[in-house]
Amino acid sequence: MKDLKFIEALLPQPTPVQRLDAFASYLGANVELTIKRDDLTVLPFGGNKTRKLAYLLHDALSQGAEIVMTTGAVQSNHCRQTAAAARMLGFKPILVLGGERPNTPSGNYFVDLLLDAEIHWTTMEARLETLNRLYEELKSAGKKPYFITYGGSNALGAAAYAFAMKELIETQNFHPDVIVFASSSGGTQAGLVAGARLFGYKGRIIGISVDEPEEKLKEKVANLATQVTELLEAPREITPEEVDVIDTYAKPGYGVMTEKEKNAILTCARVQGCILDPVYTGRAMAALMDMLKSGYFDDGTKVLFWHTGGSPAIFAERYSSEILR
Ligand SMILES: Cc1ncc(COP(=O)(O)O)c(C=O)c1O
Repeated sequence: MKDLKFIEALLPQPTPVQRLDAFASYLGANVELTIKRDDLTVLPFGGNKTRKLAYLLHDALSQGAEIVMTTGAVQSNHCRQTAAAARMLGFKPILVLGGERPNTPSGNYFVDLLLDAEIHWTTMEARLETLNRLYEELKSAGKKPYFITYGGSNALGAAAYAFAMKELIETQNFHPDVIVFASSSGGTQAGLVAGARLFGYKGRIIGISVDEPEEKLKEKVANLATQVTELLEAPREITPEEVDVIDTYAKPGYGVMTEKEKNAILTCARVQGCILDPVYTGRAMAALMDMLKSGYFDDGTKVLFWHTGGSPAIFAERYSSEILR
């Protein structure tokens, strides 16, 4: 299998795996509950995109790029981490943000401004088109931009999570029966699924969809996971039927914090001292809490919640006042 190069300063060590005993017993669940802390990756405020950027920005450096550009929503964790990684490595960050420019900067957007990322505003629908147009304009002007798609989820970005699976089961020698986490652009899940095949993880990998319908996300993850195995020169055909997705919690819409996410954030903070975010990990944990309360898992099942980050969003004006209300 091919070993991919990455920026070691972005992935200096395995992220911790911790027990969530108090939380499991609070929910009356007789399982071994643990958490993998990818909210503690090394970029400011952490998150799953740091792993992807370690690989993507190595590629950007080897191509001689001088600008790194990507897109997301106003409270995008991916954009915040991309801008931070760009500054750390000496690239100029350009972000295309979808939505209304907030009057008062807060949360991830505030951090984007601290990092002095160049920001272009557009609608959520026109994000990719705008990013493409800017990319072409910069190239025509003789600049050297590096294009990163939604969530850093191309085969190279997703491959980072194949290696994250290796980190868990080989470096940390930890073998949960089930892994649960938030899934959106599908890169994290595709990497974990590909990594499971390549490195021999046999448990379930359940992506809690944050925004996509089940069928669409399964297909996206299967395609990307197949591409990851091809990139690593160990090709496997991964089909949508092999991908586990639950989309029930996505129904209220992307970024809409309901009582479920709010309850997950408050419970996890107050019972276990662990902070979740309103958009991704709060939604995924709401799903996991329902599973744990309803006896979805057999007694003794080893359940790992993979924390994918996102904490700055709790300081976003639209969420912070709501969470404590
Ligand atoms: C905190 C957090 N969790 C999960 C995800 C979903 O990861 P992916 O886009 O790889 O599916 C994201 C993506 O933006 C995120 O910011």
